[in-house]
Order: sequence, then structure tokens, then C-alpha cells
Amino acid sequence: MVGSFLCWNCHFISKTALISLLTFTSLFTSVRIFSQDHSQQKGRLKDLTINDSKIALIIKDMSLDEKIAMLHGNGMFSSAGISRFGISDLKYTDGPFGIREELERNSWNPLKLTTDSATFFPTGSALAATWNPEIAYLLGTALGEEAKARGKDVLLGPAINITRIPTGGRTFEYLSEDPLLNARLAVGYIKGVQDRGVAACVKHFALNNQETNRGNVNVIVDERTMREIYLRPFEAAVREANVFAVMAAYNKISGSWCSENDIILNKILKKEWGFNGFVVSDWGGTHSSVRASINGLDVEMGTQRNAYLGKSLLDSVNKGLVPIEVINDKVRRILRVRLLIEPVNEAKTADIVSTPSHARIAYQVASQSIVLLKNSAHILPLDLNKIRKIAVIGDNSTHKLASGGFGAGVKARYEVTPLQGLINKIGNKASVKFAQGYRPSFIMNQQSGVRRMPNNMVDSTLLKEAVDLARTSDIAVIFAGTNREFETEGSDRSDLKLPFGQDELIKAIASVSSATIVVFVAGAPLEMSNVLNSCTAMLISWFNGSEGGNAIADVLLGNVNPSGKLPFTFPVALNDSPAYSLGTFTNDNNAEYREGSLIGYRWFDTKKIKPLFSFGFGLSYTGFLYRDLKTDKSKYGKNDSIQIHIELKNTGKMDGDEVVQLYVHRSNSKVEWPEKELKGFSRVSLKAGESKKVTLSLSVSQLQYWDTKIHDWKLESGEVQLMIGSSSSDIRLVKNIMIK
Ligand code: BGC
Repeated sequence: MVGSFLCWNCHFISKTALISLLTFTSLFTSVRIFSQDHSQQKGRLKDLTINDSKIALIIKDMSLDEKIAMLHGNGMFSSAGISRFGISDLKYTDGPFGIREELERNSWNPLKLTTDSATFFPTGSALAATWNPEIAYLLGTALGEEAKARGKDVLLGPAINITRIPTGGRTFEYLSEDPLLNARLAVGYIKGVQDRGVAACVKHFALNNQETNRGNVNVIVDERTMREIYLRPFEAAVREANVFAVMAAYNKISGSWCSENDIILNKILKKEWGFNGFVVSDWGGTHSSVRASINGLDVEMGTQRNAYLGKSLLDSVNKGLVPIEVINDKVRRILRVRLLIEPVNEAKTADIVSTPSHARIAYQVASQSIVLLKNSAHILPLDLNKIRKIAVIGDNSTHKLASGGFGAGVKARYEVTPLQGLINKIGNKASVKFAQGYRPSFIMNQQSGVRRMPNNMVDSTLLKEAVDLARTSDIAVIFAGTNREFETEGSDRSDLKLPFGQDELIKAIASVSSATIVVFVAGAPLEMSNVLNSCTAMLISWFNGSEGGNAIADVLLGNVNPSGKLPFTFPVALNDSPAYSLGTFTNDNNAEYREGSLIGYRWFDTKKIKPLFSFGFGLSYTGFLYRDLKTDKSKYGKNDSIQIHIELKNTGKMDGDEVVQLYVHRSNSKVEWPEKELKGFSRVSLKAGESKKVTLSLSVSQLQYWDTKIHDWKLESGEVQLMIGSSSSDIRLVKNIMIK
């Protein structure tokens, strides 16, 4: 390192080099001192600007080449530090549901190591179905620890785009259709990751709500909807969780690519929200040198050769097209993160990465996420005193979900499938037999020749085997749904139908078995009306991670009382959902969000369309009684916080969790609003028969709307109805309050 300061021929140190060396030594010492401080004083990690005076010295001493070298990838998942100052490269990893396997430095090819496996954590929609920000925090800490153990500095997650269309290919990675639910979970996740000394990188900023044509699609959305729905979770990630990095999305907004969009990157993210970290492009999502650098992109990734923020940017600076202060600002932002994140030089092995405590966290998320959709005649939980023979049917009984399809996956250290989970938990208390039932295969779409379509032909041999097994068993548990090949980054589903001939399979099983339980393993909404009446019980169990099989077995057997709530609406038919109903989801280059803020339940409630299952819905093996809604006052001013109290009673014989949901409805507003909006929630654990007082706080500022005349938040006075419920369509208590 020091060699670069020496004049090799004459063996003396030049004057500039000497100054550099002295500066370097003092910087290095202060970086080290800082690192020591930081472990003792966690709060400091939260202040990204704490090293700015040191960074100013570093920048002063850097050449333009050194600066530019930091602004683009020097490998598929790394970007340069400053070796002269002993400042390490930044190492990135996907995200969001586990640490990705190691790839070759300059390609997407796996290195095929034996030391890079990790815990497969439940994916975004599973996390969202827990409605539990504390568990999101725990998940974040586990991800942070695994990233650290693998020597990574930046975790590319959480992925928090709003699920605008139910067919979205990445719905399984994303969280929900509601900005508040997304925001609360994202804040928990990010704090968890960053408390373990790894930078979270929230993605994809912004309005990347479809995979179809994602690299080109131009989103046209009104300003109020953008602020109230799509930007809100990102704003919380910056303002509340102090996220260190933000990934610019592939798409365009109002004609300008997100990676070179002055409004969202400079004006909103950096200036208005005060974001001090750095903006990284999505992989291969940069389109220019001058525009991208001036308009707010700091690091270009995915393009090692001929990077826009490489030689071409250097030339642009030399030609005076990009001011040096723009470059310095980028370096400053990267260094802020770099100096806070202690580099790990030696990555540890899989044994240290995937620990029993991480497995416990994966299990907790999974067991809180499973949603009970139907339970006729209380068939669940299964009573092993009465059941001798269990038929476990369906490819998803044994299908692994940690990887598959396009995009990031995890080389799971292990993954317990539903069949294995049931065998683990049932032991010799009953016989468990398996039949595959359907084959998840694909055919090429003849027209496009590219898009793979599910092969929906029933496999008659597999079907017969499954029907025979069900006929001779006491109950049939079918693990149906999708998989990671079917729900994937890079493409959206063409409809919500159950693929691979599963409707026929479920109906055939139900015709011979009076006890048919269907567990949908999927990351997104499905059309279920065809089979709803055929089955006795129905659940959804997401892409639920390494412990997913144990969690679903515990729910079926009643060791765990289901408490997950749907994070998005399940429509009866695809055309009931807003973008399909209005025809605004197409292959076109323009995606006009004409539904405005009426996303998900906001649309279904306002338009009075009954969904199959509502946002926030989920049954339990016990019952909950809501009563006695009180507020601390009846009139509130703009700086107040509304304290809402209710009493919640577990009326059944089993302990359980309920997610109490607070929605608001505006009575006589001059402004247009959706019928109702989620404004708070709380997961409450109650023993059988227990009652608890539950308090929800809602700050009045959360009731503001984005006023497009003043381009700012504004509070309207008048009456607001507070609605407390068990789902968006099951409101149990109502009270009106006044905003002064
Ligand atoms: C995805 C990102 C991901 C990146 C690196 C892109 O295709 O959109 O979410 O982090 O690849 O794998």
C-alpha cells in the first residue's frame, strides 16, 4: 500500500506523497478510533454525517481517477474503495430474503462453493402477513448477521414497492398493497439490518410496480397518489430508519428513468427527505453519464465494462459538463456509509452463517404469517386422536422454494418442506402418505416464442394416484399454489388462475374425500373461487423459508394458532382489480395509473366490489371480541396524537394472536378520499379467555393529504371516523372525532 507513495528509482518519499501519507495515517487512526466508538455507542450508527470532516480531508487528497473509480462496480457485487487509504471496497449482496450465494466476480455464474449457504428467510409477502414490525426487526438482525459473516457491507433489501397489480412477478418479494403496512415493516427490517453493522439498501425507488417491460415502462401518476401511496414507505425508510442506501428502479417516471430522475433523486430523496447515504442503480439500469450523475445517481452497478459513471463520466468532468462538486458529493455519500460499516475481510463459513437462532427467527416469521382462509366445521386443527391416515398431496408438499426462476435466490443451508414438517411433527401418531398429484411443468408460448406458460394439462397418472390415496385416507391435505419458477422477477403472471391443472386435482380429491384441506403455497394472490366450495379448509402459506414446513405443520396440528392476515386483497376475478378493470396495465411503454390512490382494498371498498378475501383478513382457531372504543379526547389539533383504546377479549379455548386494525373514513371532506385507509395496527397476544386493553396512537399529521396546489402536506379540519376491525371488511367498532 505504502509503495504507491514511493519514488521507486530514488528511494525517497516525494513531498505530496509525504503529506498524503501523514493525512492517511491520521485518517486511518481516526477511522479505527471511530470503529471502536461505534461498537460502544450504537446510536452513532444512525448519524451518517458524523465523519464528514474526515471525509472532506480524504476527498481533498483524492485524484479524479480515484473518485470516479468509486462510482461504478468493479465486480458484479462490489464497488471500489480507496486502497491508498486502506479504505475497502464495498461488497453488496442480495437480499431481500437471504444472503445470495457467491458469484464469479464479473458474471452471474455461481462460484459453486460449499461455504456459501445461508438461512432462507420467509419472503416479503410472508413477512407482511405477520403484520409484526418487531418480527421484521428480528428478521433484519438475522439478515444483517448473516451478511456480516459472509463479509458483505450492503444488503440489497428490503424490497418495498407497492403491489399495484395482483399478477406482479415480484409480489412474493415485496410487502403489501398498503403504504402504512409497508412502511412499518420496512422500518423494522432496516433498523435490524443496520443495528448489525450492515447497510440496508431499500429498493426499487420508485414506482417499479410491474415486471412487464420494466426497463422501459414510463409511469404516469398524479402527484398526490405518488406522495400518499408509492413514496410513503420509502420516506419512512429514510426519515425513520435512516436507511444507508437506496436503489433506483429500472422504470421511468414522467419520461425520465429513475436512475437519472432529478425530481425523485435530488429534489425529494436527498433534499426534501434529507437522505445522506448513496443511491445505487439497479443492475444494468443506468442510461447516461451526465444526466445520471447530475440528477442524483451515485453508484452504477451491473455494468463493469464501459460504465456510464466510469471513463465517460471522467471525460464529462474534464470537459466541464459535470461540476467536480457533483462528483465530490457522490464520494462523500459513499464514504459516509463506508466509514460507518466496518469491513469484514475474512468471510466466515456456512456453519457460522446459518445459526439455530436464525432458524428460530425464520420459524417465528413463518408461523405468524400463515393465513387461515376457511375452516368449515372446525376441521382444523387436526385431531390426531381421531385421524389415522393422512394423504399429503401436491407437488408443493416437497417443492423447495429458496431459489428458482429469474433473480436472487438463496443456497439454503436446509429447507423443511411441508411433507417433511408433517412427518417431523406427527411422528408415529398417524400414517402420512404422499402423492405428487400434479407436475409443475412449462410450455413455450407459441406466439411470443419466449414467455413460458404453465402446462395446465392434467397428468392423469399422477391424478389417479392422488385420488386413490385420498379415497383410502381419513383426510387429504393438498399443498397447491405456485412456485419460484412460476412467480419470478422479470415477468408478471398473465392471470391469477391456479396453474398445472390444480383446479381439477382439488375438485377430484374433494369428490372422494369429505375432509379436503388446501394449503396454497404462493407469494401472491390467486383465483380461488373455483375450488373454495370444494375444500373443507383453506390456508395460504407463502414462500416461507427454511422453516416453512415446520411452521405449516404446527398450524395444521394446532401447536400454533394461525394469526397471519392478508397483506393484499384477493379478488374474485382479475378484472375486478383496479389496473385491470381500467385497462391501465398493458404492455405499452406508458403505464398510466388512472386508478390514482385506489390501490387494493382502497379500490374494492370505494367501488363496492366484493373481493374473495379482503385485505387484513385471516381466521383463528379462537374468537375475539372487540368492545369499548374510547378516545382520549373528542377534538384534536394538528400537533396532537389521538389515543384510541379498546378492549379485546379472546372468547375461545385456545391462546391466540389478533391483529387489531385501525382504519379511517372521512365523512364530509372537500377532498377526495378512498372509502377507508389503514392508519394503525397492533398484534396482540391473548391467552384463552383473557381480555386486554389495547391502545393505538395516531398522530394527527398522519391524516394529512398531499395538496397539489401548494405541493405540500395539508390537514383538513372536520369529522373523521375511526374504525377498528379485524380486517378491512370486518369493522367491529366505530367512533367519530373532530379535527380542529
Ligand atoms: C434486481 C434487484 C437486484 C439486482 C442484483 C436486479 O435484477 O431488480 O432487485 O438486487 O438485480 O441482483
